[in-house]
Amino acid sequence: MTILITGGAGYIGSHCCVTFLEAGHEVVVVDNLSSSDPESLERVSQITGKRVLLEEADVRDSAAMQAVIERHACTGVIHFAGAKVVQESLTDPLFYYENNVLGALSLLRAMQASGVRNLIFSSSASVYGPPDILPVPEDHPTRPVSPYGRTKAMVEQILTDVAASAPEWRIGLLRYFNPVGAHESGLIGEAVTGTPTNLMPLVAAVAAGKKDHLTIYGNDYDTPDGTGVRDYIHVMDLVEGHLKAYEALQDTGPENRCITANLGTGNGYSVLDMIKAFERASNRQVPHVFAARRDGDIGASYADPGHARDMFGWSASKDLATMCRDTWNWVCKNPDRL
Ligand code: NAD
Ligand code: UD1
Repeated sequence: MTILITGGAGYIGSHCCVTFLEAGHEVVVVDNLSSSDPESLERVSQITGKRVLLEEADVRDSAAMQAVIERHACTGVIHFAGAKVVQESLTDPLFYYENNVLGALSLLRAMQASGVRNLIFSSSASVYGPPDILPVPEDHPTRPVSPYGRTKAMVEQILTDVAASAPEWRIGLLRYFNPVGAHESGLIGEAVTGTPTNLMPLVAAVAAGKKDHLTIYGNDYDTPDGTGVRDYIHVMDLVEGHLKAYEALQDTGPENRCITANLGTGNGYSVLDMIKAFERASNRQVPHVFAARRDGDIGASYADPGHARDMFGWSASKDLATMCRDTWNWVCKNPDRL
């Protein structure tokens, strides 16, 4: 069975290619290479010993998407393609709505025209906004605070309506918490393009000596050490969740045609916990200074992952030390990608 992975040359997509190929699926990738390098797919082939085809195209081009789906007789789609930088979505919201919402609509039109009804969508914990309760369950209200988060919530709504429109649809809405880490080979990982804003790439850059220090945004949150707490999840666990969700959806009846699940570990770690864990994994220092809270940040967010376990038998297994070790291995082997 051939699976179409949109955005498959990117960070999470390339790891997902490995997992699907190793599970015996054929994989074709559509990517416009706007934030990635096709080298990642050569490395996927190196890891798996299997070929992964790249079709360079834009998901907003519905005719091109339909042609790819039909040319490769795809039976399902994992949709990662999109823009993901929260701060950028504040200054260029139109681009985010175009790329993420129109991109999804265009893909859905192509799927509908070619009779493909299986889809996994990359959503985000940012759909929740500031949580009312911890750990955050899937039925928590969705109140995203950025245009980026709103694009994810809108696509979720569109997909819910699409799933309700015909019993053949099988759709998984997977809400990621904070993906980090890299494949254990160090051949693929998170290649930083532009100015990084997420914690893990910044911690790694400081440990590698590419930045003097880390700025910690806020030490007065209502958390055990005052710094922000998040649910970091190893990218290989995350993509395993996609495989499990995809396969479970194939075996389910129309009553479960649209499922929503958090992908997180259920553990919250603070910024200081992350620094300590990374220092241990890298055997380097991560100098840091404290500054005011970052606009739009929340104190703590971590998942209730129980629904994913109950619905498709998935739970994360890699601990924080492994997340840091694999990130450091990737950074050491690819210093120019940091
Ligand atoms: P990434 O930028 O590494 O990968 C996205 C890929 O999509 C890139 O290869 C890019 O070239 C491609 N792309 C972008 N727009 C496209 C378009 N219009 N047509 C074709 N290809 C296009 O990002 P990632 O971290 O791998 O994220 C993948 C998905 O997961 C995104 O949808 C993102 O919003 C979502 N997500 C990511 C995180 C995270 O922290 N990384 C958290 C929650 C959700
Ligand atoms: C950010 C996005 C979120 C997205 C997620 C994963 C914002 C407001 N939210 O979330 O929508 O789903 O990334 O891509 O951007 N930190 C520092 N110093 C730094 C960087 C981060 O102290 O230089 C802290 C933050 O304050 C936070 C934690 O580290 O407490 C994690 O930050 P980050 O990696 O940016 O992720 P989120 O804020 O969870």
